[in-house]
Amino acid sequence: MPIRKAVLPVAGLGTRFLPATKAVPKEMLTVVDRPLIQHVVDEAREAGIEHFIFVTGRNKGVIEDHFDRQFELETTLTEKRRYADLQILASDLPEPGQMSFTRQQTPLGLGHAVWCAREIIGREPFALLLPDVLVQAKRGCLAQMIDAYKSLGDKANVIAVEEVPRERVSMYGIVGVGKQNGLAFQITSMVEKPRVEDAPSNLSITGRYILQPEVLDLLGTQTRGAGGEIQLTDAMLRLAQTQPFFGLKFEGKSFDCGSKIGFLSANIAYALEREDIAPSLRDEIRRLLN
Ligand code: G1P
Repeated sequence: MPIRKAVLPVAGLGTRFLPATKAVPKEMLTVVDRPLIQHVVDEAREAGIEHFIFVTGRNKGVIEDHFDRQFELETTLTEKRRYADLQILASDLPEPGQMSFTRQQTPLGLGHAVWCAREIIGREPFALLLPDVLVQAKRGCLAQMIDAYKSLGDKANVIAVEEVPRERVSMYGIVGVGKQNGLAFQITSMVEKPRVEDAPSNLSITGRYILQPEVLDLLGTQTRGAGGEIQLTDAMLRLAQTQPFFGLKFEGKSFDCGSKIGFLSANIAYALEREDIAPSLRDEIRRLLN
């Protein structure tokens, strides 16, 4: 079955970015000139996603506004004949009817946020993209995952993974590595934020998933795990008893934009890919480093 829907959990408070995120959702912080959430929606659209399910919370209304038309702006840009800008605004928007917004009323964790989207997802496999993570790649990370998924069978679940330094495993979900199967490998175990000595490998879950709808049933009965939160990783581990899970080491560079260094680094890396900005930015960085 094709992957048509993507879940984007955007309810988090963004406390790691205070005071920037006091009134502005962290998903609206910009990497160069596009909000984080726009970069992630772009990645999902490139992969062929047709419906975007935002799991929002209080004070996140501006995300909904960002994905709407802005008539005053359009009128002004038209009067000023700024057609290139108008074109960008238009092409950034999913089609009418391609977006749903639901709320996570209580911050009970990622697993709970995904569960809040269950009625909109329905009974079909879906993608999940965590907007804290940006992946810079020639072919988008989710598109790479869907390529792999197509050869793995209808009940497969796929998780993007990458190597992290051993001493950082306790910050992520970590997978155990089994047999290679085409582009992907079988996942033998998963543990959320393990101690270094308990980690089955140094391959971390990167924030991109293709999941079967049965995970939603399990999330409904999932008890609290690491950090006292309802963890998606714990529900996936239960699902792995009846369905295969595969890990994909994607091509590309990931940025943990939930951390200040990751966010700043993403800004530099994305700007260096831009013909209109890169030459001046290089000069500026040289100047600052001297
Ligand atoms: C979540 C997931 C974790 C994953 C991480 C990637 O954790 O639970 O498995 O490795 O995202 O960013 P969080 O960062 O929300 O604590």
